[in-house]
Amino acid sequence: MQQTLAGKNILLGISGGIAAYKCADLTRRLIERGAKVHVVMTKAAQEFITPLTMQAVSGNPISTSLFDPTAELSMGHIELAKWADLVLLAPATADLIARVAAGMGNDLLSTLVLATDAPVAVSPAMNQQMYQNIATQENIATLARRNMMIWGPGKGEQACGDVGMGRMLEPMQLVGLCEDFFAPKPLHGRSVVITAGPTREAIDPVRYISNHSSGKMGFALAATAAKLGANVSLISGPVSLATPNGVNRIDVTSAEEMYQASLKLAKQHDIFIGCAAVADYRPEHLATQKIKKSADNDNMHISMVKNPDIIAAVASLTEARPFTIGFAAETQDVENYAKDKLQRKGLDMICANDVSVEGQGFNSDNNSITVYWADDKKELGFGSKTELSQAILLTALGQID
Ligand code: PMT
Repeated sequence: MQQTLAGKNILLGISGGIAAYKCADLTRRLIERGAKVHVVMTKAAQEFITPLTMQAVSGNPISTSLFDPTAELSMGHIELAKWADLVLLAPATADLIARVAAGMGNDLLSTLVLATDAPVAVSPAMNQQMYQNIATQENIATLARRNMMIWGPGKGEQACGDVGMGRMLEPMQLVGLCEDFFAPKPLHGRSVVITAGPTREAIDPVRYISNHSSGKMGFALAATAAKLGANVSLISGPVSLATPNGVNRIDVTSAEEMYQASLKLAKQHDIFIGCAAVADYRPEHLATQKIKKSADNDNMHISMVKNPDIIAAVASLTEARPFTIGFAAETQDVENYAKDKLQRKGLDMICANDVSVEGQGFNSDNNSITVYWADDKKELGFGSKTELSQAILLTALGQID
């Protein structure tokens, strides 16, 4: 097992929800990866899972009360608050979230949250109606505003039979978030703007010209850049993907809208990545009404005009120009076409992908990429879009520094 959490002290705060039973598994998984885990349980949490179970899996005494002289002797509550590198509240019930939002210290767990200077992650878990309640939503927004990380909840069937938002994330999802949190952040202090997905060029009010881009590559880049510590803006064409955690998303439809958003944001960011499959041309005239089929027109001609080249415009900025990375989606002679685009568009780097090969490129979870820059190239090979995103960003960092 990779020791991704080696030396990390995690204070797991369990409150009284049915998902508390998952905390035994969560603790085991964290420890397997090298973390040290101390568990604090509210009174209600002990109705769902016993302190004895949590003590057995964590290997540490369980803290349950502010007024327990024995526990205070082993590790007092202030000491515990200082010991933590991360406080993880899971499950965080509506009640615990409300008490933390109000700054209350009426039990050990809420007192610890007040007393710690460690980052706090909150994993909400409750009935979907309670989660939707405006009071809960406002309390969660308050915690987020105070820079607490909100991990979840997930959606699905609930213990009470309801279906909706409010399930605690699964133990392995929480472990993954802990790993991301503690992972090195080589892009800390950098900002990245990424375009993703297709553009749609309207023909009439019901039809458009577009392409097969799903947005997966651009969204993977955005998620990875955020995990590596960057401040990320994602300009997305119409796709059906969820916004990655911590990413500021701007939705656009046409190439012209993507151009406007890109030019506005490019100057405010250190790195620009043009991953979108931007339509090179758009219909010259937009019909105001649906174009009708008639008996005497078997052929239809649409006159097209060139769209602005977004990435070329970004690369030619004379002030506050970001490090500019393009993509080249090619079906033949990949290297030559990619190098030509690198030079012609004035880019710093280009990621070439052969989109004629099945199982990579458009609308796939995988890709195969070679990166080119002025005087060299790097073969990143075949892999998931997430793996390749990390390799692309680290290669770019090597060129910037
Ligand atoms: O979205 P997925 O389904 O995950 O697929 C990923 C992808 C195949 C779309 C992606 O990996 C990719 O290759 N994106 C670029 C697609 C493309 O339009 O390539 P191009 O060779 O036509 O354009 C070259 C570069 O110029 C690109 O950076 C493109 O964003 C940019 N461009 C193109 C035209 C234009 N008007 N403005 C631009 O900025």
